[in-house]
Amino acid sequence: MSRDSFGSRFGALVAMAGSAVGLGNLWRFPYLVGENGGAAFIIVYIILSFLICLPIFISEFVVGRRSQKNAYAAFRDLSGGSAWRWVGLFTIIVPLIVLSYYSVIGGWSIEYLLKSITFSFTGGESQSAMNTMFSDFVTSTWGPLAVHTGFLLATTLIVVFGIKGGIEKFSKVMMPLLFVIVLGIAIYSLTLPGAQKGVEYLFNPDFSKIDAKACAAALGQAFFSLSLGFGTIMTYASYVDKKENIMFQSTATAVSDLMFALIAGVAIMPAVFAFGLNPQSGPGLVFETLPFVFGQMPAGGFVAILFFAALLVAALTSSISMLEVAVAYLVEEKKFSRAAACTVLFVVCWIVGTLCSLSFGPLSHIKIDGGNLFDFFDNLSSNILMTLGSLLTVLFVGWRLKKTDVYDEFTNGGTLSRNAKLFGVLWFLIRYVCPLAIISIFISGLL
Ligand code: PHE
Repeated sequence: MSRDSFGSRFGALVAMAGSAVGLGNLWRFPYLVGENGGAAFIIVYIILSFLICLPIFISEFVVGRRSQKNAYAAFRDLSGGSAWRWVGLFTIIVPLIVLSYYSVIGGWSIEYLLKSITFSFTGGESQSAMNTMFSDFVTSTWGPLAVHTGFLLATTLIVVFGIKGGIEKFSKVMMPLLFVIVLGIAIYSLTLPGAQKGVEYLFNPDFSKIDAKACAAALGQAFFSLSLGFGTIMTYASYVDKKENIMFQSTATAVSDLMFALIAGVAIMPAVFAFGLNPQSGPGLVFETLPFVFGQMPAGGFVAILFFAALLVAALTSSISMLEVAVAYLVEEKKFSRAAACTVLFVVCWIVGTLCSLSFGPLSHIKIDGGNLFDFFDNLSSNILMTLGSLLTVLFVGWRLKKTDVYDEFTNGGTLSRNAKLFGVLWFLIRYVCPLAIISIFISGLL
């Protein structure tokens, strides 16, 4: 049986961009910008995205497309069967952990979409009423579980249909829609009286706010946002046609991801400032502050529907990419049928996700390192495991693969002359700059 693949260049592009653009852009990026001092954080984020993350993205792309296999087999075969295959296994297990808690927040976006459809935010509620609405919801047992299950089920259903018939089809329709919605909200938000302050906040840098912790946060966010260190890009790349240009596809994904994050910032911050609110409200920004803002702004009920629909779609195009990593492994290495692989993984993620969901309410007494189970998984995977996965991948490509093979894959056998010219710089970044930068930023962020 021949291996499934993306049907077109556009399809491959939107699927990768779909993986990258997710809750990371709409939910995490804006509040991290808020916590780390606005524009200066954005500048550091942009520099790290292109200098460090783009070469890692390309490294994952090279490994995936060279091998045309799942992440485990890719590491195993390209290293001649060495212990590197355990790194492959690592990059398969980590996205499952992330998918488990990601689908909890994905579930919250379903809940908030439903709440906005029933116009629960309109009527001039106070900010504290919105805070209570959120905390009442997340600390309850059944509501969050129901939507978490719904989100995971939707993810699984898309992935069952395969690359062309499921993931690509879904992304092709949803990504353009997502772009239009988020851009529309951003434009609207800019027209609100008082929006100017929010724009200044986003684009006037104050470098005194930048310290080692902010750099570490920016790097962690860039990894998360570009889906790096997870086997995700590697797996998607394994379905990309050999004729495609890796440099182009990678840059296009990184640029769209950045654009989405910035547009999300412009959609959110001016609106928040226009109503005299504070952006530094952490993860509650999207589920507490924004609903209040929607309740105040003209046509806010409608904007709320669009916003939470966008959040849901963005989350789904990312969650399917996380699931696909392990599905590919089970199908290719363990000879599962696609449906069986999806079912088994659904059950595993559902159980872990359920524990995360309950950790806000009935299981909130279980603390690990001061936080609940959800925080533990989020911190562990996005701050540590993802950094480790990215570091190992870039070391694998820079120090284990043969330079000529990497060159061959990156330039399509030497036929892409622009890529051939760029290769020297890329190789230097992959071999030296990326590993050293990752290690030093990671360590200084811990101190
Ligand atoms: N990039 C996604 C986001 O920004 C998250 C993600 C991480 C997706 C890892 C796949 C793998 O939300």
